[in-house]
Amino acid sequence: MAIGIDKLSFYTSEYVLDLVELAQRRGVDPNKYTIGIGQDKQSVIPNYEDVVTMGANAAAKIIDNDDRQQIDLIIFATESGIDNSKSSALYVQKLLNLSEFSRTIEIKQACYAGTFGLMQARDYVANHSGKRVLVIASDIARYGLNTPGEVTQGGGAVAMIVSESPRIATINSDSVYMSRDVADFWRPIDRTEAIVDGHLSTDIYKEMFLTLWQRYKEQSGRTIADFAGFSFHLPYTKMGKKAFDQIIDEADEIPQGRLLKNLKASQKFSRQVGNLYTGSVYLSLLSLLSYAQDLVAGEQLAIFSYGSGAEAELYSITLQENFFKYVPANETKKELADRKKVSVDQYEQIFNSQLLDSHENVSSDHPDADHFQFLGWQNGERRYK
Ligand code: CAA
Repeated sequence: MAIGIDKLSFYTSEYVLDLVELAQRRGVDPNKYTIGIGQDKQSVIPNYEDVVTMGANAAAKIIDNDDRQQIDLIIFATESGIDNSKSSALYVQKLLNLSEFSRTIEIKQACYAGTFGLMQARDYVANHSGKRVLVIASDIARYGLNTPGEVTQGGGAVAMIVSESPRIATINSDSVYMSRDVADFWRPIDRTEAIVDGHLSTDIYKEMFLTLWQRYKEQSGRTIADFAGFSFHLPYTKMGKKAFDQIIDEADEIPQGRLLKNLKASQKFSRQVGNLYTGSVYLSLLSLLSYAQDLVAGEQLAIFSYGSGAEAELYSITLQENFFKYVPANETKKELADRKKVSVDQYEQIFNSQLLDSHENVSSDHPDADHFQFLGWQNGERRYK
């Protein structure tokens, strides 16, 4: 039985920062950000959004009554969870009115956990015929004002429903993966911003991609000619390109042109959103499916997932008949275009106004809106609407 991604959706905050303006304020040549790093804009996350609201807002776009009956497991992948004990999946279960007769769990391994969640979901469906799994990958990437990582911040959530007979893509059983203790990015539990060695991270990412690509070819017998496109984890878009450049010459001239065009397609949404850690590789997939003009059912895409610390996985998916009907391409493009632009001053004020102290009974700056919001703290408890 084919199992894979039946539905896919994305949500990010309503505010966006222009990185040319950020570069000017920081005294940096804007080309460094837009060409050297490959980012144009960044989502700015107000204090009434967190991983729970963004995850629930993403999932709300795709959950219907059939899903409510069939979802047996909710897997919430995040690096920036809101509680050291309670799973974000429990909040989502309640906000989305999902059945209490379901399993709920939160998982963590930097930016990699979304992929682990997806693989667990596939295996779960294989063992529980007829059931569906909701996988949410939701994060806020924070490095700090005036830091080298600032230009690679962002945030948002991707939600996926994994089922039998999926309408978008099957997940093939061809994963190769590896993990190794590396100090390229981590976040002690008393910190809200990551500690990062960005250049080491780039080196390990490239190395793990190349190692896994060789292993994948050996184990699967496939070559680059078997793929219509690649989706990479994109902390910034240049990172995926650096990894891909290591193997692109394995393709003949015409397919090489196609693969490079589709790599650009896979970067478009990330260029406007920034990093969303666990969800980034799936935003790259959504971007590829939304912008590539030439993908056809039956073709295969390669997915490279990386999480600092470090763990990586490479696998393929196969596009299903009429997959494009189920990809929210226009909706996502419109939502990104409709975001409200904030000035650098407003961005800094929003960045510094996160409600991090659970001891204070305090309300967030939430406007009246019809999507889920974090309302603030009450007796140490997070309140949502
Ligand atoms: N015009 C065009 N290009 C320019 C330029 C200009 N005026 N000035 C510089 N550049 C280019 C540089 O040549 C360089 O290009 P290459 O990498 O191709 O050589 C690029 O711009 C960046 O320049 P620097 O390396 O000098 O920039 P930097 O020292 O400020 O660091 C960075 C850049 C490493 C990306 C930094 O922003 C950073 O540390 N970001 C955060 C780290 C990160 O995202 N790591 C990924 C972690 S994986 C993850 O997502 C975390 C997780 O698992 C949860």
